[in-house]
Amino acid sequence: VGAVRFVNEPVANFSRDDVRVAMAGAIDQVRKQLGQRLEVSKLNTHLPTGADVRSFNPAQPEQLVGIVQSYLPADVAGLVKVAESHAEEWKHRAVAERVAVMRKAASLMREQRWELAAWEVFEEAKPWREADADVAEAIDFLEYYAGEMEQLDPPPRLGRYPGELNELFWSPRGVTVVIAPWNFPLAIPAGMVAAALVSGNPVLFKPSERASIIGYRLAGILRQAGVPAGVLQYVPGGPDVGRELVIHASVATIAFTGSKDVGLGMVQAAAVQQAGQKFVKRVIAEMGGKNAIIVDDTADLDEAVTGVVQSCTGYAGQKCSACSRVILMDSIHDAFIQRLADAVMSLRIGAAEDPATQVGPVIDGRAQKRIREYLEIGRREGRVVVDRSMEGPGYAVGPVVIAGIEPTHRLAQEEIFGPVLAVMRASSFEQALRLANGTTYALTGGLYSRSPRHIELARQAFDVGNLYINRSTTGALVGRQPFGGHRLSGIGAKAGGEEYLKQFMVARVVSEQT
Ligand code: NAD
Ligand code: ALA
Repeated sequence: VGAVRFVNEPVANFSRDDVRVAMAGAIDQVRKQLGQRLEVSKLNTHLPTGADVRSFNPAQPEQLVGIVQSYLPADVAGLVKVAESHAEEWKHRAVAERVAVMRKAASLMREQRWELAAWEVFEEAKPWREADADVAEAIDFLEYYAGEMEQLDPPPRLGRYPGELNELFWSPRGVTVVIAPWNFPLAIPAGMVAAALVSGNPVLFKPSERASIIGYRLAGILRQAGVPAGVLQYVPGGPDVGRELVIHASVATIAFTGSKDVGLGMVQAAAVQQAGQKFVKRVIAEMGGKNAIIVDDTADLDEAVTGVVQSCTGYAGQKCSACSRVILMDSIHDAFIQRLADAVMSLRIGAAEDPATQVGPVIDGRAQKRIREYLEIGRREGRVVVDRSMEGPGYAVGPVVIAGIEPTHRLAQEEIFGPVLAVMRASSFEQALRLANGTTYALTGGLYSRSPRHIELARQAFDVGNLYINRSTTGALVGRQPFGGHRLSGIGAKAGGEEYLKQFMVARVVSEQT
């Protein structure tokens, strides 16, 4: 069985000299290619008419990473027409062929592994380890969804009644729009695009306007692997292009990963029937989180401090899975805060190019400003324990820890998407769980505990899509920790899990009397 055979792509071991040399070499190579214009005409036949998107290095905002021309909302109708004209051809390709294309794309990514990671270092300021993990996860998505699609072909027979043949056929839903974020700039779009393609749909892929360059690489790899032009179109552009894609009458499925408000807006927009529309649009929306880790009075505090710091400050807190609240039980509250403060002070803040960097800058000036505004709110609501917010190059916002946060505070409720940790206090484990569940989100959560009773209670009642016990809350692995939340964290099956692929298809049951 494909899903059982699936093995995750190993992440790089940067403690090895040869691996460090390979990555450093790729960074040097990519540095020489910075600032180039990427030609959309190499990927698409229907060309953009919009302004250039210019991508800059968050650590050195004057360093141009690349330029690509963007689409305008007025271009969308033409793009959709191209997708429609290729829908039948791709739908009728043998499943084995589509699966082989995905596997080929995975092997091309393996070959370009360091280079792809190096582009993420420059365009998204991903520290080495995080960039490498993103590439490994992209490979995983391609392989995993290929394996899942194989399981559905040939169509399974249902029941074994004499004189009756019942078969379940899966067919593609039709034109699919993928709208991606920038924070896992290769893995997240690779997952959504691969699932849509391998299940037989033509795809319009709009990368985040903050990740157009790596998005171009992804589209290029898929084309090189054998996805025909027109079946996959790369659509660089901003929210206005995204909006136009969502409302187009011929778009059957929208796969979105991004913020809550944008996702809710899409659900609403997709529900409005457009002239000529022939189906209910399906929206798969993976949205934000306000994730908590509970540390109870039995926890191994060394482990807990390490896990909380990693979960909060990894990629400068810009992960939907990141911990942004730590809930401490009374008896360990002060000791934990002291150790946490020491650990945060020891983190190395710097540019992502430097292999020693643990916390790099945030994605751009807009994000930096927004996080700093939240810091002002936090200073009013709580008590600052550590503040390294002014350290680091470019658009840096170093980690900040704020204690004394109450459930009604904005720091307890709103996703900040930066390395800002709100500390909350609980007098019992039950209260800690209530605090953890006391937001509108339900994405990830964590518990550090050695109490079997607390662990069992958390298993039952910690209401999140992905709960981690005695480990950090980021870095879900395809196939092993299918990822995604509920409540206002999203709608749809978990990415990297068994149910995901079927969202891009319709099921048809054919019963024949024999
Ligand atoms: P965002 O919502 O600002 O943008 C995401 C994408 O949507 C971009 O491509 C953007 O151009 C597009 N967009 C924006 N407004 C639009 C509109 N009105 N109509 C159509 N498209 C529109 O999010 P972001 O800043 O790129 O990413 C960060 C957010 O994503 C955070 O909230 C994070 O929690 C979330 N996220 C969730 C997951 C998950 O799996 N649940 C994973 C990664 C990121
Ligand atoms: N899949 C990503 C993680 O778990 C979001 O960190």
